[in-house]
Amino acid sequence: MTNPSTEPFDTTGFRRALGAFVTGVTVVTTIQADGTPRGFTANSFTSVSLDPPLVLVCVAKSASSHDVFSQAPQFAVSVLAEDQKDVSGVFASKSPDKFAQVAWQTRATGAPVMHGAAAHFDCATHQVIDAGDHIVLLGRVLDFAHTGVSPLGYCRGAYVSFSLSQDAIAATAASEHAQVGAILENSDGVVLLETPDGLRLPRGTRLEAANDPASLRGVLASLGLVAHLDFIFAVFESAQARQQADDGVRIFYRGRVVAQRGMSAPELFIVPLAQIPWDELSDPAERSMLQRYVKERHEDAFGVYVGDSEAGTVQTLALT
Ligand SMILES: Cc1cc2nc3c(=O)[nH]c(=O)nc-3n(C[C@H](O)[C@H](O)[C@H](O)COP(=O)(O)O)c2cc1C
Repeated sequence: MTNPSTEPFDTTGFRRALGAFVTGVTVVTTIQADGTPRGFTANSFTSVSLDPPLVLVCVAKSASSHDVFSQAPQFAVSVLAEDQKDVSGVFASKSPDKFAQVAWQTRATGAPVMHGAAAHFDCATHQVIDAGDHIVLLGRVLDFAHTGVSPLGYCRGAYVSFSLSQDAIAATAASEHAQVGAILENSDGVVLLETPDGLRLPRGTRLEAANDPASLRGVLASLGLVAHLDFIFAVFESAQARQQADDGVRIFYRGRVVAQRGMSAPELFIVPLAQIPWDELSDPAERSMLQRYVKERHEDAFGVYVGDSEAGTVQTLALT
């Protein structure tokens, strides 16, 4: 038996394990004594009690707004809609003018609420609990509202759009020529394939099966890659494919290579996210989708907020 006290704690593994818990994405806001708004992106939001109505959010002590929130008499939590990834990005940043970049209004407590959010909770601070490198902010809900819009999800360091699965089903049903592809990462980077026309992501004419060489699973099997496909990342029409007389519907999963079998295939090109040769990607639609993926990976919550604040660097899980 191992003695836990003598084993160094596996912080990276701990972060990865936490990343398996699918959450929503919120923006937590307050108004300072001088009337200026403050806010940050948080996925640590949790419901706590129905009677009295309590919610919580955890604030990193390294966050520049930590002192403000530890003393704020009220705060609001906006649950972001799936078209609000850019709002999440703004509030996860250190931008001095976050509130100039988004639409917001105030409700019961005067704390800002994001326009277009899936729901919001306006709270009086109920309790502030010291908890390691974070504080737990417990709020008593004074006012709330919700809309029917689809919420934004977050898992394993990237955003998840729940309604994309329905779009994908509709797109494949309507199209004879849909192509199913994948953005796959292993510890060295993202999987690309070298073709005479340039680099592209692995894709096939359908998802299954591994013994069908035209399917995505079949393409991956021929490359010796065993992959987990986590979520649908994008559904779009490719203009390039339209020129080539197919109807151009593309469905892309995001996932991970979990094992590599046999000799590395000559066309396989695994490149760190920070070093993708963008000009060599053959399909402009794939290029802009992959650029969005890389941007969102940079906003990795655990990387950003467990970052090395002392050294002033942002350490991301996925990119190191
Ligand atoms: C999806 C996502 C979730 C996050 N969740 C939290 C969180 O729960 N608590 C936290 O303190 N920071 C969290 N962060 C990081 C903060 O948003 C980030 O550190 C921000 O810069 C803090 O703003 P401030 O420095 O202006 O206070 C998250 C970031 C992202 C992208």
